[in-house]
Amino acid sequence: MPSWLNDAVFYEIYPQSFYDSNGDGIGDINGITEKLDYVKSIGCNAIWLNPCYDSPFMDAGYDVRDYKKVAARYGTNEDLKRCFAEAHKRGMHILLDLVPGHTSDQHAWFRESQKAQKNEYSGRYIWTDSVWNRPDGFGCMCGVSERDGCYLLNFFSSQPALNYGFNRITAPWQKHYTDLDCVATREAMKDVMRFWLDMGCDGFRVDMADSLVKNDDDRSATAEIWRNVRKMLDQEYPEAAMVSEWSDPRRAITKAGFHMDFLLNHLGKGYYSLFRETGPDGSQRSFFSKQGRGNIMKFLDDYLPQYEASKDYGYISLITCNHDTPRMTLGYDELERKIAYSFLLTMPGVPFIYYGDEIGMQYFNLTSVEGGYNRTGSRTPMQWNHGKNLGFSTAEKEKLYLPVDERDVAPTVEQQEKDDSSLLNTIRKVLALRHANSDLQAVPNFEVVYAEKDQYPFVFRRGSFVIAVNPSCRETNIPLDETGEPVFQIGKSSLENGRLLMRGQSFAIFKK
Ligand code: GLC
Ligand code: CA
Repeated sequence: MPSWLNDAVFYEIYPQSFYDSNGDGIGDINGITEKLDYVKSIGCNAIWLNPCYDSPFMDAGYDVRDYKKVAARYGTNEDLKRCFAEAHKRGMHILLDLVPGHTSDQHAWFRESQKAQKNEYSGRYIWTDSVWNRPDGFGCMCGVSERDGCYLLNFFSSQPALNYGFNRITAPWQKHYTDLDCVATREAMKDVMRFWLDMGCDGFRVDMADSLVKNDDDRSATAEIWRNVRKMLDQEYPEAAMVSEWSDPRRAITKAGFHMDFLLNHLGKGYYSLFRETGPDGSQRSFFSKQGRGNIMKFLDDYLPQYEASKDYGYISLITCNHDTPRMTLGYDELERKIAYSFLLTMPGVPFIYYGDEIGMQYFNLTSVEGGYNRTGSRTPMQWNHGKNLGFSTAEKEKLYLPVDERDVAPTVEQQEKDDSSLLNTIRKVLALRHANSDLQAVPNFEVVYAEKDQYPFVFRRGSFVIAVNPSCRETNIPLDETGEPVFQIGKSSLENGRLLMRGQSFAIFKK
């Protein structure tokens, strides 16, 4: 286990939209390097960088054309190397985004694989044995290659699935995952990882980590591949970390060997019930809505078994949002978000803040750019100050990657830094407390103190701290056999004479 993870707090950067250092309208690597001190000032000592590789950008870079080359619009490999070095100088770590399940259909491997003539890459992707043979149950493309066969897709039509084989074989063209071609794909991905790790990268966020082996019902073959990768890391790069987009820590951490796994916004799952759940009439049913109609047990019933099963092997990662999810400003006011984020940042595991969430950036309804569709609205330029383009870029407005927030009330870093009670400064205080107290870091010391179906508050313990959360607008008053002084609070709470009293919309960290 990489030692730095225990006190890590991540910041996700979407490179297109963070900071444009050369005035061409799009964010870049040198822009990120320039802003490392800002990221550090929030209390984030680690970064997850969305894909920055050469790509035709049909899916914002998740369609990789060259795994070993920084996209020209973001800069050069040398710029990225310097960014790693500058981060390390500040005690920070950077994870790149590894996209192992598919490439762009413009990747050189795929161009070779499409040829009728058999070659080294014929088995790098998944092909049926005839163009007339469409595979059941898989997305595919037929009739667009010289080669006689259909190829399987992993996501959009521009993203052919790499061949890691099948677990359960149902047709003659399907190769078992232990086949040499499938092993070669895995080794090629390890080669990509070594390339960036040798350059100074600290590990990877792994895109669609559960998608490798097809017909892998219990994901056991996919897990076997990741354990093989983990073994390589343990031997060659023991301080490198991997976080999976899997959302099943029991499998991702315990079976597949990831150091961390995200809980994602999947319908009906625990994370969803905290922040995104609505009733049949569209009304808020999330636990963190001030309406107070949520149910913390929906979260705990999902979270606790996952936590118990994975806590000795790795960390669960809670996110404020990501580049695929509507920002929490959609449906939540600032106080609701202060409470929600304070909770996220005091839970065990390794939390992730999505760029701009710390200042309350909006979700916008925008026409799709680069395959974003409804996700585009969460990908707009970072809002630094009230200068031109909110300080994101000196380019003309028409040249910006996406429009900036044009409202007068657009929040910015500059404005929030001046206000002691701003969202940004609230997050800074919570994170300062987290960094100063090992009990509040990633360690698995989580104990539920008070949680009742359909009731508020929710109270949990972490070592010498008791953390109480009342997102509801109603006051709560419960018997609680605990003592402690508040070391951080939002709203007002007291823990005295065997009772916990919390005003509506309060959050408190008590220390024994
Ligand atoms: C992941 C990424 C998403 C991308 C997809 C395909 O879900 O987060 O942005 O479109 O994988 O790579
Ligand atoms: Ca630029």
